Amino acid sequence: MTEAPSKPRIAIGSDHAGFSVKEAIRKYLEGAAYAVSDLGTSSEGSVDYPDYGKAVGEHVVSKQADLGIAVCGTGIGISIAANKIPGIRAAVAHDVNTARLAREHNDANVLALGGRIVTGEAAIEMVQVFLATAYLGGRHQRRLDKIAAIEQGERTKAQGAG
Ligand code: RB5
Repeated sequence: MTEAPSKPRIAIGSDHAGFSVKEAIRKYLEGAAYAVSDLGTSSEGSVDYPDYGKAVGEHVVSKQADLGIAVCGTGIGISIAANKIPGIRAAVAHDVNTARLAREHNDANVLALGGRIVTGEAAIEMVQVFLATAYLGGRHQRRLDKIAAIEQGERTKAQGAG
């Protein structure tokens, strides 16, 4: 008998503007028996989205989670922050189509959402699609390799500059 593949471990994080959507996602994931690391924030008090984008990104690259979900007001700021962590491919999705393509073409390992843009219900649908979709590989891998080469080149330059 083959074992069912285990569910990915998910790191979630948001700023204040993404808090309520992040909470809706957390409740959904926990209810669906995913292992969830909630990296905050824990209220609607004002905080800075880079701290949470960094935390989600670091959790994924350190393999404490398999995938991340990051929410700020638009999804933009927190995705920019998460993408500064080498190895992170954070994608802002606006609908189930962009959530699916982020996995199929970009092998996105962080889904970024806008808490002021989408409803909790729409966010959960995007999360479901993101988690259910596999990377297609093939021609897309060459492009991801180029992204990794850009990242590596920048790291090498930074080390040389020291
Ligand atoms: C916070 O007001 C807002 O700027 C932030 O949540 C996000 O939308 C930034 O990209």
